[in-house]
Amino acid sequence: MLTRAGSVVVFLAVLAFPFFYNLVSTGYSSSATAQPQLKIAKPGKCVEDTAWMRKNHMKMLIHVREKAVREGVRSVDHSFHGCINCHPKREEFCNRCHDYVGVKPECWNCHHYDL
Ligand code: HEC
Ligand code: HEC
Ligand code: HEC
Repeated sequence: MLTRAGSVVVFLAVLAFPFFYNLVSTGYSSSATAQPQLKIAKPGKCVEDTAWMRKNHMKMLIHVREKAVREGVRSVDHSFHGCINCHPKREEFCNRCHDYVGVKPECWNCHHYDL
């Protein structure tokens, strides 16, 4: 039998579930919740603010592609060349998140990026 206090705790936990679920699924989780273990091969700074990158790197890559392919303007740091320089192993970085959320970018069919 749950005590009254116990059922209040359970009720609050159920109520809070979507909140914690969002924290985990967007990657903005506290250290207490499970999250992908990313290996930062070269500590320092990313090409943009970390939180921004977490959310927008995919849009950024597509934007950089359009610039390069359509307008011939190349940005080394912001393209795969840059990513590979600082995040050399896809398996230890990119894939940790992608496997976690279940996305499989098809980019590697054509672009080389070491596992
Ligand atoms: C000059 C080195 C450098 C380059 C180039 C670089 N990164 Fe980063 N990146 C880092 C570092 C260092 C961090 C961790 C920063 C921190 O701990 O705040 C990071 C963090 C990130 C994160 C957030 C990880 C997290 O903790 O959630 C993502 C996503 C990311 N990088 C993607 C990319 C992509 C995609 C590219 C290529 C377009 C790229 N980075 C290019 C150095 C780099
Ligand atoms: C902090 C977690 C995280 C890290 C680290 C990360 N990604 Fe992602 N990436 C995601 C998430 C989440 C999505 C899916 C976003 C969506 O569906 O809106 C995604 C999507 C993408 C996409 C778009 C896929 C598609 O088919 O639409 C590309 C491209 C991509 N990531 C490249 C990279 C590269 C390259 C790296 C490593 C340098 C990297 N990502 C590292 C979380 C991450
Ligand atoms: C069918 C093959 C193919 C696929 C799949 C593919 N690309 Fe590309 N990509 C290319 C080719 C070809 C170029 C032009 C190469 C060049 O001009 O150097 C290019 C160029 C780029 C560039 C510019 C390179 C530079 O030097 O600045 C970026 C960034 C890029 N692609 C990102 C992506 C991303 C992100 C994905 C996945 C969402 C992806 N590509 C999927 C073939 C592909």
